[in-house]
Amino acid sequence: MFITLEGPEGSGKTRQISLLAEALLQQGYPILVTREPGGTPIGDQIRSVLFDLKNTDMRPHTEILLFQASRAQLVEQVIRPRLANGGIVLCDRYADSTLAYQGYGHQVDMDELKTIVFFATGGLKPDLTLLLDVDTEVGLRRKLDADEWNRLDAYDLEFHRRVRQGYLQMARSEPQRWVVIDAVRPPEAVQAAILKVVLARLKVKV
Ligand code: TYD
Repeated sequence: MFITLEGPEGSGKTRQISLLAEALLQQGYPILVTREPGGTPIGDQIRSVLFDLKNTDMRPHTEILLFQASRAQLVEQVIRPRLANGGIVLCDRYADSTLAYQGYGHQVDMDELKTIVFFATGGLKPDLTLLLDVDTEVGLRRKLDADEWNRLDAYDLEFHRRVRQGYLQMARSEPQRWVVIDAVRPPEAVQAAILKVVLARLKVKV
């Protein structure tokens, strides 16, 4: 089973994914946790190019293709083999991040993006996607306070609002795959909500 976590800046995804993995491992589920961009040695090198604050010259198409290059490597090297062995993969961001950030956020043509995302993933889609939803200003404030600011965060507020609305729209249009989690609540409440959803799905699927 392939599970992805998505969300705008400051939604607490990264912390929540490790709490989820820990809880599932304790219950004996064979979990593999990975993230995007990165998750492989090649992907991690691509990640450092993407996030380097010096790379202010990076063009939108370059950025899009680098995300897809990292993703293609992760899908082939890690995700597909693990799923083929009956494992459970938890991924911190995946193809929907490209649609949310580059599509809704930067307003790159959606059909073109879907074509290159399909090329990168070979059409592999998550079975379940959790959207950790947080108000844009609350999320950005959390990132600033945590001192986790990178090149890609430095876009304006309207951009981040479009990203959030894009996520909510994708969730509405494919409700069998997406579950929206209110991530403004305290981390323990978010954690409990996520675990409940995931365990319910695993009981049906595994
Ligand atoms: P990261 O440092 O991993 O933080 P987080 O996932 O907690 O936000 O940053 C990932 C950044 O990359 C984030 O700003 C979203 C962006 N991104 C895209 O714009 N497109 C993509 O396809 C992916 C995977 C990420």
